[in-house]
Amino acid sequence: MDRTLTLLGIESSCDDTAAAVVRLSSGQAPEILSSEVLGQTALHAAFGGVVPEIAARAHAERLDGCVDDALTSAGITLDALDGIAVTAGPGLIGGVLSGVMLARGLAAARGLPLMAVNHLAGHALTPRLTDGIAFPYLMLLVSGGHSQFLMVEGVDRFCRLGGTIDDAPGEAFDKTAKLLGLPQPGGPAVEGEAALGDPKRFAFPRPLLDRTGCDMSFSGLKTALLRARDALIAEKGGITLQDRRDLCAGFQAAVAEVLAIKTGRALAMVADARPTALAVAGGVAANTTIRAVLKTVSERAGVPFLAPPLRLCTDNAAMIAWAGIERLRAGIAPSSAFAARPRWPLDDTAPALLGSGKKGAKS
Ligand code: KG4
Ligand code: ZN
Repeated sequence: MDRTLTLLGIESSCDDTAAAVVRLSSGQAPEILSSEVLGQTALHAAFGGVVPEIAARAHAERLDGCVDDALTSAGITLDALDGIAVTAGPGLIGGVLSGVMLARGLAAARGLPLMAVNHLAGHALTPRLTDGIAFPYLMLLVSGGHSQFLMVEGVDRFCRLGGTIDDAPGEAFDKTAKLLGLPQPGGPAVEGEAALGDPKRFAFPRPLLDRTGCDMSFSGLKTALLRARDALIAEKGGITLQDRRDLCAGFQAAVAEVLAIKTGRALAMVADARPTALAVAGGVAANTTIRAVLKTVSERAGVPFLAPPLRLCTDNAAMIAWAGIERLRAGIAPSSAFAARPRWPLDDTAPALLGSGKKGAKS
């Protein structure tokens, strides 16, 4: 590629309204000129989870301003763009549609190429934006809505090795927090409590370890926690602060151990392909205990461990702009006609996973 590409990225598939500008100049590392993320935590707080209608309305109201802010912080106008990339799925369809309609309008008005990006591909290609790593690499995506191992073989070539058959781990952290009266998002709250607890007091299950491969399950863990909580309540009429800390520590230790063992298996499955790294993405990658065990497992397998900065691990539009640049650069034609898709597996050949998560049917 011998020309500079400056793309606007738009992301609205769950509960973050995001716009960003990313530039790739020939022979240089990519630059994130701006990355705006407007979270919606406060809007959904009273409901204990993301409410699709509220999310869609908020995206529709905020996207214009978010794009304006991204262009202003990047110090450019629409005239400087070489294209627009938008998340076209998977996700909550109302929000995805808001982003797709805005992107379509802007692209048509300015005669710009429009790239329809799979949200998961955005996460999966992020290590190339942050660290410029080469294909192939193994990606573990662990967030509130996703949980899967992907071998990233090319800009448009992903092989899913396994994933959750029910809840995503972030979802399990969020539900655990709810069961224990902790605030949302649950991950940081549970991690904070776990730091003060005894991980050995409660013996929570390590689901699906008896099954070969690297599929995972987290919903039984949450049920086990509910039973342990209710047993304490039945016995003593309530739970103490220390009980809560111990429950959190036991739960987190179980998630960390399952992720570590399944990651070890995924690394073994792809060893012959010599992955350049194990990279993580998703909000759960913020968890210090989980990060530490993944790093250990990866380095034990002789594979470098890579965790992009958290603001690029969680939902953002820079990863969408970057995926658009990667696709343009690889000669993939812009998307003239495409539909917003609630479900959009990255790897059509992998067997469908069961169950349903925060973002609807598992992607
Ligand atoms: O990637 P993300 O921002 O959004 C999507 O779900 O796509 O991830 C948010 C999820 C939430 O479920 C949140 O509880 C979890 O990541 N999370 C954590 C931590 N920080 C965020 N889970 C465990 N430990 C954390 N420190
Ligand atoms: Zn995501």
